[in-house]
Amino acid sequence: MWSSRFAFILAVAGSAVGLGNIWKFPYMAGENGGGAFVLFYLLCVVAIGLPIMVSEIMIGRRGRRNPIATMRIVGEEEGSRPSWGLVGVMGIFAGFLILSFYSVIAGWALAYFVFSLGGEFTGGTPETIGALFASLLGDWKMLGLWHTIFMVLTVGIVARGVERGLERFVRIAMPGLLLLMIILLVYAIVAADFASGWRFLLTPDLEALTPQAMLEAMGQAFFTLSVGMGAIMAYGAYLPEGTSILRTSIWVVVTDTAIALLAGLIIFPIVFANGLDPASGPGLIFETLPLAFGSMPGGAFLAPVFFGLLVFAAWTSGIGLLEPAVAWSVESHGRSRRSAAIVIGAIVWALGFLTLLSFNVFADFKFLGGTLFQNIDHLASNILLPLGGLFIAIFAGWVMCKNSSSEELDIGTGPAYQAWRFLARWLAPAAVLVVFLHATGLLGRFGLM
Ligand code: PFF
Repeated sequence: MWSSRFAFILAVAGSAVGLGNIWKFPYMAGENGGGAFVLFYLLCVVAIGLPIMVSEIMIGRRGRRNPIATMRIVGEEEGSRPSWGLVGVMGIFAGFLILSFYSVIAGWALAYFVFSLGGEFTGGTPETIGALFASLLGDWKMLGLWHTIFMVLTVGIVARGVERGLERFVRIAMPGLLLLMIILLVYAIVAADFASGWRFLLTPDLEALTPQAMLEAMGQAFFTLSVGMGAIMAYGAYLPEGTSILRTSIWVVVTDTAIALLAGLIIFPIVFANGLDPASGPGLIFETLPLAFGSMPGGAFLAPVFFGLLVFAAWTSGIGLLEPAVAWSVESHGRSRRSAAIVIGAIVWALGFLTLLSFNVFADFKFLGGTLFQNIDHLASNILLPLGGLFIAIFAGWVMCKNSSSEELDIGTGPAYQAWRFLARWLAPAAVLVVFLHATGLLGRFGLM
């Protein structure tokens, strides 16, 4: 059990806030033309992500097991089939895929922590900083080392038990990260092209919103909130009765979204002030933030603090990605926590090399229009998470009866409950389906969109 409501909020926020906010959101927004992508992403966060987060915590607390057992048991209690457990299986698979690339990118942040300690950014120009990033990506052995260190850190905490490990450092790391981002925001306002960055990020050009961009914005909403794979469900299993699920979820969603927008408002002014390309891809923050640190007062000190905190934020998310699989292995197969964490961590570690090598050795190996990394990310974030979320919403809205959900949410059956139930039963599932269909081009072909 979490020691308090605050501890639970911290744990869920720790899982939600991570590379998804600071690394992925800016580069995805940049690749998809900015404003319209951001607007659609915000819509998905509120109309799909939030009700699904509420649903996940609620189901998790009711089942009090790992996601597979929880879905099976609560499903049976509600007079439905045990095969709902398969949603948990899919979620665990999605978690494997996500952690495999997440750890590689967290490794980049670790490398940048060390670079900044060595003063590598001081006086940097777009050329020298770009070259630094390229040389890191080209060296697969180095990348492998950083990826390994991150996996060891993550497995270490999960092996000891999440509650004990997590609470302590989220409490310090999150406010610290926020403070640093505010300092960076001041830099972006004072010393970079803030007006252009603001315009790019917050002025929607709806014409530019392609079906693919909509799918990616929806996937990003799931990814950034950690919903759709049972991670939040696994945390909900440890939630004491009497904690407000709705209020907790709103807090987490607001914090997570604010941090992503803040990251965007820091990165794009730097992009435009230096004539960089907003659509340059996954390297975006690694090619822009060092420019800020390299030229701002105190930057030599702030840079390692920032990248250190980024690693922390990634760490708390990595733990959330590994936990469902480990909890399942412990509860259903009677393994010790330690051995489950090590074995599963090793599998994910090996899988990570597919991502790692797609930035160098396999860079030219493409299928379905992308590298191995892009395909793994696309499958997990844009397909498996929304699909998992679709099933979770249907489960919470249709399989669980009104009595069970209103009892578990404990907000009566007034407007807040009605709004959640409408979103979970109708809007969220329908929206996921429409975006899926739209992305296949089917709706366009029948003149529907
Ligand atoms: N939400 C995390 C981020 O934005 O970095 C990523 C993540 C963590 C996704 C845990 C899914 C998850 F279960």
